[in-house]
Amino acid sequence: MKEQLEALGVKALAAIDEVSDLTTLEEVRIQFLGRKGEMTTILKGMGKLSPEERPVVGQIANALSEQVTGAFYAKRDALEAAVLNAQLSAEQIDVTIPGTAQAVGRQHPMSRTLGEALDIFIGMGFSIAEGPEVELSANVFDKLNTPENHPSRDWGDTFYFDTDNKYVLRTHTSAVQVRTMEANKPPIRVVSPGRVYRKDEVDATHSPMFHQIEGLVVDKGVTMADLKGTLNALVQQLYGAETATRFRPHHFPFTEPSCEVDCQCFKCRGKGCPMCKGEGWIELLGAGMIHPNVLRNCGIDPDEYSGFAFGIGLDRMTMMRFNISDLRLIFENDLRFLAQF
Ligand code: PHE
Repeated sequence: MKEQLEALGVKALAAIDEVSDLTTLEEVRIQFLGRKGEMTTILKGMGKLSPEERPVVGQIANALSEQVTGAFYAKRDALEAAVLNAQLSAEQIDVTIPGTAQAVGRQHPMSRTLGEALDIFIGMGFSIAEGPEVELSANVFDKLNTPENHPSRDWGDTFYFDTDNKYVLRTHTSAVQVRTMEANKPPIRVVSPGRVYRKDEVDATHSPMFHQIEGLVVDKGVTMADLKGTLNALVQQLYGAETATRFRPHHFPFTEPSCEVDCQCFKCRGKGCPMCKGEGWIELLGAGMIHPNVLRNCGIDPDEYSGFAFGIGLDRMTMMRFNISDLRLIFENDLRFLAQF
């Protein structure tokens, strides 16, 4: 039996030595050391030994089992390390290989101009209001004191949705004035950017869809001086502290008095250049003090409150900001053009 065990030891150690993968190693372990393994089979014969022989053989068996187990663990560690090393070298990253460049997108010039303008307004305490592009014509026209015969209501100028002229694609963001005043009590200080629609032919400066930023301030004691101060602050932050503005009298049904606001051409500083078509001034926006009828239509008492409003053409502002000569370029989304900015 002693010889049997020794022979088994030699065989087991040789088998472990030969193994080159973990699965086979486990098979070898079961073959020799498992519950039904060769070692057990031999040891089953212990009962037939004399009482003197038994402890001697027992010792040999223990020593052998320790030796084989030790060899097994050593082999297992070595194989596991080999597997890990193989994996590590297979997954090695060569950081010196030149990368594949990613095409990085960026904000559209319109979004950038809008972001800048909104930052300025938020800095002055305005919040942002929203309104739908498909709007009640009551909000676009009637409540804004725009009479039935006003040209902007004409089918030739405006996209109506139905034959009773109840819904329109809004022709200006001023409709948001109505929604804001109907839903809020003064003090009100909001700006509202968005798309507007008019039946214009497409050319370098016209598009049936364009963008405005509406502004609305209503409170006790608001005057034209507040309007001027706010718009001057906007222009100076956009185009520099030295930029002059010019307020020209104008007419809008929903403001009284009304004005159009120009800023001194920031290219030639008023001398006249292609940018300002030789004028020295560039038209920026329409504005005015809110007409008492409009306040009343929206449930605000004009004897208690006053306010001002303005509507900025965002596309025009973007064209000036980025020196873009044709409005169509802004909407075509040609990456060769947009990648310049
Ligand atoms: N809604 C006017 C337009 O589209 C601009 C404007 C807004 C004028 C607010 C006065 C007050 O031309």
